Amino acid sequence: MTKRILSGIQPTGNLHLGNYLGAIKNWVALQNDYECLFCVVDLHAITVPQDPIHLIQSTRETVATYLACGISADDASIFPQSMVAEHSELMWILACHTPLGWLNRMTQFKEKAGKQKDQASMGLYAYPVLMAADILLYQATDVPVGEDQKQHLELARDIAGAFNRHYKKDLLTIPEPRIMGAATRVMSLRDGSSKMSKSDVSDASRIHLKDSDDEIIQKIKKARTDSGSFPSDSKELDGRLEVQNLLNIYLALSGVDVQTVYAEFGGRNFSDFKNHLADVCVENIGPIREKIHRLMDEQQYLDSIIQKGTAKAKVLAQDTMRDVKKTVGLCNF
Ligand code: AMP
Ligand code: TRP
Repeated sequence: MTKRILSGIQPTGNLHLGNYLGAIKNWVALQNDYECLFCVVDLHAITVPQDPIHLIQSTRETVATYLACGISADDASIFPQSMVAEHSELMWILACHTPLGWLNRMTQFKEKAGKQKDQASMGLYAYPVLMAADILLYQATDVPVGEDQKQHLELARDIAGAFNRHYKKDLLTIPEPRIMGAATRVMSLRDGSSKMSKSDVSDASRIHLKDSDDEIIQKIKKARTDSGSFPSDSKELDGRLEVQNLLNIYLALSGVDVQTVYAEFGGRNFSDFKNHLADVCVENIGPIREKIHRLMDEQQYLDSIIQKGTAKAKVLAQDTMRDVKKTVGLCNF
């Protein structure tokens, strides 16, 4: 069986360190060992209101960010989800095989819909089924994502299993989640109990991949810690969410072993550690930022990557759809 990866990120706002450490950095690490498809999930983005002009620019910028982080357009297919109509088509068919009870358990919908559940769109509710379609359409074997997407991936596996059982054939590949690295859930720099997120009102809560060196340094300096000193071992991390988060970011970006960090910074105040952390962030993010800016000036190049990626993705998507339609008994003359 072909080892194949499918993953995606929404084209809203600026991508941040959570997107990088939870997803893109791992895509780069895995890309040589798999056939890869990386989409920009613009259909997921419109589950909440978007400004059309801004959305299409964000989609291009997300493609530029994938490339700037080290995804190889020669090997991987990079494309906007909406360019391959089969995503929506498969979603409908899968929706007809997904019990409401399964969707009612999804915590992300509960968080995003908030108290005004009746005002949320059907698209927001069906969001995880579209994500399942993204994955199952390409018979992806592995899906590298951040920890927050674990529940959605479980659902994708359940939907594939239910479909296969219903039609008594192994048509859809059951995907494996790949939640990797030292920072699978990057937390807000202002509050260690909430996830670093595009939608947080506080800009200081996250580091964007487009932040200047100075912005990165300031955000790390102001990042919340506590009145204690830097821990000397894992026992001293108990209940210290903000400290754990900064440590995880440092480990993920530097590749340094945790014991070495405890030995070097344990018992010292946070400012020494923060200086090192800021340096590591600047070293990693600075070149990505510069490359995003360069690529955004090369619109034709970006569009050519999108066209090439879309064409490659469509071939695979059409193969699966042909089998799925035949299996379900839908016309396909
Ligand atoms: P999104 O920005 O919601 O489209 O997320 C795209 C990818 O980034 C998914 O694989 C998420 O799991 C990952 N991701 C988003 N926020 C974080 C975070 N704070 N920590 C780790 N991974 C994240
Ligand atoms: N729901 C994911 C998120 O917000 C994005 C996404 C959509 C995705 N389709 C996907 C991730 C398919 C992996 C595979 O983080």
